[in-house]
Amino acid sequence: MERTRSRLIQRLAEAGQSHLLQFWDELTPEQQAEMTSDLEAMDFQEINRFFRSAMAVSGSSKQEKMDARMEPVPREVLGSVTRDRDCLKDWEEEGLRCISQSRVAVLLLAGGQGTRLGVSYPKGMYDVGLPSHKTLFQIQAERILRLQQLAEQRHGAKCFIPWYIMTSGRTMALTKEFFSCHSYFGLGEDNVTFFQQGMLPAMDYNGKIILESKAKLAMAPDGNGGLYRALGAQGIVEDMEQRKIGFIHVYCVDNILVKVADPAFVGFCVQRGGDCGAKVVEKTNPTEAVGVVCKVDGCYQVVEYSEISLATAEERSTDGRLMFNAGNVANHFFTLPFLRDIVQTFEPQLQHHVAQKKIPYVDMQGRLIKPDKPNGIKMEKFVFDIFQFSKTFVVYEVLREDEFSPLKNADSQDGKDTPTTTKHALMSLHHRWVLNAGGHFIDENGTRVPAIPRDGSAGSGTADVNQNLKDGTDLPIKCEISPLVSYGGEGLGGLVKGKEFRPTLVIDESGAHELVKNGV
Ligand code: UD1
Repeated sequence: MERTRSRLIQRLAEAGQSHLLQFWDELTPEQQAEMTSDLEAMDFQEINRFFRSAMAVSGSSKQEKMDARMEPVPREVLGSVTRDRDCLKDWEEEGLRCISQSRVAVLLLAGGQGTRLGVSYPKGMYDVGLPSHKTLFQIQAERILRLQQLAEQRHGAKCFIPWYIMTSGRTMALTKEFFSCHSYFGLGEDNVTFFQQGMLPAMDYNGKIILESKAKLAMAPDGNGGLYRALGAQGIVEDMEQRKIGFIHVYCVDNILVKVADPAFVGFCVQRGGDCGAKVVEKTNPTEAVGVVCKVDGCYQVVEYSEISLATAEERSTDGRLMFNAGNVANHFFTLPFLRDIVQTFEPQLQHHVAQKKIPYVDMQGRLIKPDKPNGIKMEKFVFDIFQFSKTFVVYEVLREDEFSPLKNADSQDGKDTPTTTKHALMSLHHRWVLNAGGHFIDENGTRVPAIPRDGSAGSGTADVNQNLKDGTDLPIKCEISPLVSYGGEGLGGLVKGKEFRPTLVIDESGAHELVKNGV
């Protein structure tokens, strides 16, 4: 014990982090034991190295230079669900074929802390208030189940889409428990694999690790790009190899419309011979909090919303659209050989990004201080930082209203990306699916509701949603279709064609039902 402690004291002194033990004598034996084991597990020299190189590349001069080095995505690498409509069927077929051979896996990034949403549990467990009260995890699980079924029907072979879920120290236990309590939503325990990303300490601007209490370091997950280190450390790539996976769809937990293992996206990337691909939506508002896919110094990259200057974000092409309009929806495609190369070779070359934060800390007197301006940094790698290593990079553009509505913030009056906006985006999509399949909606007087409402009183846009909330009109039409019935709007004709429904309409495995009480 004494030997461990003196070795630790020496390691901390060598790394300039001796202050971490300044309250040692005030700690209980349990706190001392816990702190010793936390510190023992840390490589301070490596942490100091991360700090130095992250700080060296951050800062305004880098950003100014970055703006000058950015170029938009060239047309030839781009596929689009609107401009390349003729190819869509082919891409989807290709994707379904790969899925039917069990060669497609999905990888969920769910290690974030949900700070902006303000919940203490993993974001995937959030219920945005749909009629079914399904959580984000359940919606995604059911999309996987349905897609397996569609691929099986098409190709007559039983198949699985293995689901890899990255959590962090803070989300692992609750996530696992949630899946276990829900019997893995019918996917089979063997097909759901959890793994944990790393954590890094928050540091002040002098490179000193911050203490959040006398006995605890301020720790945070190492960013969603912590994925690659975690994949290597936990043998996930080997697991994928054993399962003969060829292609991986990586996505973030918060997008309620996410097309998990999207066959058209997978098929597009495969047919174009891409080793790495990104799904994008058109960015139309310069200040929207999405990164943009572009080239920097000739290499593909996402420039994050926190890293682009307003002047560059506002630049427009001659057609009036934003110059950098390939909005990153955090849906990526990798071939397994590409992912293996990243994990085995390129990961150490990835730089941490610096996020300046207000980090609560204990001062020299042991008092807890909550700063009102940033006092230190968190270091994060980003999942898309590996685009630069791609040999054949492809970009797939989809429609925002069909595929992108992320849950980032708690509800508020003018809130963007909130439980309300995500719920409305899903119901609006499902409303359109019913109309496209030949169904109709009627109001309480039995009058048909026009497909396109007048007075701008319905719609999926945030402005409309907020207006509706203020008015109490509570639109759009309340309609929810279980992913177990339809993955992307298919298979609804028999249930809705020529029929009239009074909202709330719920379509699930037992059919189409009008809920008597509009309790959404
Ligand atoms: C992310 C993208 C941004 C994109 C936007 C779209 C990154 C770095 N940025 O931004 O380009 O336009 O989504 O919604 O991908 N996560 C982890 N571990 C971590 C941190 C986050 O697994 O250490 C996961 C989260 O659980 C979440 C995802 O990564 O699923 C995105 O994290 P978040 O911090 O919400 O990213 P944004 O800043 O919104």
